[in-house]
Amino acid sequence: MKLEYNDILDWLKTTDPVQLETLWTEADRVRREQVGDEVFLRGLIELGNVCRRDCLYCGIRVSNVDLERYELSEEDIFASAQRAVDAGYETIVLQSGESPRFNLDQMAKVVRRLKDEFKVVVTLSLGELEPDEYAALRDAGSDRYLLRFETSDQELFNRIHPPAPGQKPYNRIEGLKVLRKIGFEVGSGVMIGIPGQTFESLARDVELFRELDLDMIGCGPFIPHPDTPLGREYDTLQQQLANGTADPNQPLADELGTYKVYALGRLLCPGSNIPATTALGTLNPDKGREYGLKRGANVLMPNVSPIEHRSEYEIYPDKLSLSDEMHNGTSPLREMLRSIDRTVGLGRGDSPNVINRNQTIN
Ligand code: 5AD
Repeated sequence: MKLEYNDILDWLKTTDPVQLETLWTEADRVRREQVGDEVFLRGLIELGNVCRRDCLYCGIRVSNVDLERYELSEEDIFASAQRAVDAGYETIVLQSGESPRFNLDQMAKVVRRLKDEFKVVVTLSLGELEPDEYAALRDAGSDRYLLRFETSDQELFNRIHPPAPGQKPYNRIEGLKVLRKIGFEVGSGVMIGIPGQTFESLARDVELFRELDLDMIGCGPFIPHPDTPLGREYDTLQQQLANGTADPNQPLADELGTYKVYALGRLLCPGSNIPATTALGTLNPDKGREYGLKRGANVLMPNVSPIEHRSEYEIYPDKLSLSDEMHNGTSPLREMLRSIDRTVGLGRGDSPNVINRNQTIN
């Protein structure tokens, strides 16, 4: 399938179900050919919701004073990791807000201990760090780093993502290049339907996935949080959509748009790992992740954080953590995978990109 910029743009704009069926079928075929029928499960641990940043879209932004804040102790982190290991996951994802108390040595120690005790793959998603900090965390043994660039429209990014106090704006695209150079498997992605986004910039986002040669592509719909400026802006957008005055170039923050980005991501970066994300599952709790897996995705991230803190990691409202817990002897998640003829992945679940890249180096 030819996928130049204009083709991507056409796909993003089309709503014709017959045409879209060909996109889903092709993405599913390439997914099977490149990464097979295994769905890799990554255990997500949300380390803390303390954040010094004030992103206009995010519920854990520093200005949101109504939120109960928490930071997991090392003991909590290891109890969560144990849950992941007990469930058979071989990758643990550590995600957190950018805490002003972030301590590099402490984080490096946690990574080292996780690697020693559990022999798991460690993915970090800790926000924007300096190159020497990324390098120290890589030296400590972490394998993968996730940093979404959120949108390739720099003006929109700068508006919704003010720099940390006293700091220059951070260039996430450059950050991703640094991460690659340091030897991480690199993941990034965007939100779909950010107020002010255009179909053109979303098409450019998808092209950037290919240019950055991403190993992981994590994307989800923008979900308005009422306690954020962009959440409030979204109300206006909804009214404009209802009365027909919305900018026709504004992509919707919906399921369909999200599936398209998964499918296009698969076709442009055939070997990448693509999760069906929590935000998608939040829009459609029954079927969102299942459709995602049939339209390009091959990864799920069950939440293994301590239950009492899950609702506090509220980057958007009603965030629906994925559970792999047993009910009457079976896990509904695993039942769903069986029903769509997919299996639970065994092993590290590295992207074939990584395997090929390493072979070229050796
Ligand atoms: N809606 C959807 N996704 C969001 N994120 C943050 N806030 C929201 C929101 N309101 C996403 C960002 C970030 C990831 C951890 O969560 O893309 O990179």
